Amino acid sequence: MAMIAKKCSQYQVKIVDINATRIDAWNSDNLPVYEPGLKEVVESVRGKNLFFGTDIEASIKEADIIFVSVNTPTKTFGFGAGKASDLQYIEKTARSILTASDSSKIVVEKSTLPVRTAESMERILNNNGKGLHFDVVSNPEFLAEGSAIADLENPDRVLIGGHQTRDGLAAVEEIAKIYANWVPRERIITTNLWSSELSKLTANAFLAQRISSINSLSALCEKTGANIDEIANAIGKDTRIGSKFLKASIGFGGSCFKKDILNLVYLCEHYGLPEVATYWENVIKINEWQTTRSVKRVLRSLFNTITGKKIAVLGFAFKADTNDTRESPAHLVVRELLEERAIPVITDYRALPDAKRDLSDVLDKVQFAEEPYEAAKDSHAILLCTEWRQYAALDWQKIYDSMSKPALIFDGRNILNGEELKKIGFEFISIGKA
Ligand code: UGA
Repeated sequence: MAMIAKKCSQYQVKIVDINATRIDAWNSDNLPVYEPGLKEVVESVRGKNLFFGTDIEASIKEADIIFVSVNTPTKTFGFGAGKASDLQYIEKTARSILTASDSSKIVVEKSTLPVRTAESMERILNNNGKGLHFDVVSNPEFLAEGSAIADLENPDRVLIGGHQTRDGLAAVEEIAKIYANWVPRERIITTNLWSSELSKLTANAFLAQRISSINSLSALCEKTGANIDEIANAIGKDTRIGSKFLKASIGFGGSCFKKDILNLVYLCEHYGLPEVATYWENVIKINEWQTTRSVKRVLRSLFNTITGKKIAVLGFAFKADTNDTRESPAHLVVRELLEERAIPVITDYRALPDAKRDLSDVLDKVQFAEEPYEAAKDSHAILLCTEWRQYAALDWQKIYDSMSKPALIFDGRNILNGEELKKIGFEFISIGKA
């Protein structure tokens, strides 16, 4: 929304939320999320044509277009628990829109949703005695955290789905017009509603599948002496495969991949396609196995016992350049270290507050350090879990000197120079290398 405000001064953009604390943060110098470049964009338009507030009803009433961006977590109860999306916030939002509206509007689904959610929204919105008409349009977001601003400035594509009726097509064009202020028209794709909803889930499933594919083969590399980075480079040169998203890692995290694939799995089961469901479910299983087997490798290298040993965990965010820890592989790593009764010492450049929140039930068993040198001091091993580029530039000699020996590094992101570290004296293991 900040990017739309920046690129389209002719639109007034109002962001509303029920959480007043977060809205206050958006109105302050301390934005509630860390994202490179975001603060600059927000500050350039806040108070001009971008506003943050809690007056939801009034804002609905005066809006012509409403982007719905409420969360759709995995359901934890009832039918579909553990897989289906919990749509209660979407439904509540549709009802709030209807209650507060006294004119017809376009409602845009921005949240990631199961295919055919628009149907439910339309049923709620258009069964009104007020004579109002709502067009529901799907406009999924494809930005990735850490590179959000660049992704928004220069998207590979913008996707807008709507009904193939006169009103539906007009609504799609209304949304396309917004993006056309800075995105070339040929990159603005329009489809029917269901294709748009399902494309979002499919894109995330394909991206996650690539990581699980390369990660599954990283295990074979460790057995055979092949090197997963060399393989990624060799296969990525084939333009049919492409070089992106082939970085073997300790596992993918983030709020989207797992949730969206589980949602896809649920949809396939619901529509009687168990083979398709199993196929995609394995992408998640491999991901969890990758993290767990990595901790087991570390354990084996530490004589199969880490009880009472300090283990430094470098990085808790699910990827670099974000403070987001949702579904972070580091979280699973810490839980497994605790199972073995080790003492994890966690450090991260941005995510320590969220790490403390995530681990609030075990605060007496874990430690936190503001910087990596402090985390590594007296530890038996370092587990690098997030690819913060600063880690590659640390003074590793100084770290080695401060650690218990033999000092082990497990590079869960393959960003360190193993040969150099071995020369210092470290024992070094990484993903997909013997
Ligand atoms: C992902 C998609 O990339 C976005 O297109 C999508 O819009 C977004 O989900 C969403 O649905 O909101 P995001 O989760 O922010 O974006 O970040 P990614 O860059 O996709 O990384 C996800 C995880 O995969 C991270 O833990 C990352 O470290 C890991 N990863 C990524 C790898 O392990 N290897 C790779 O080669 C790439």
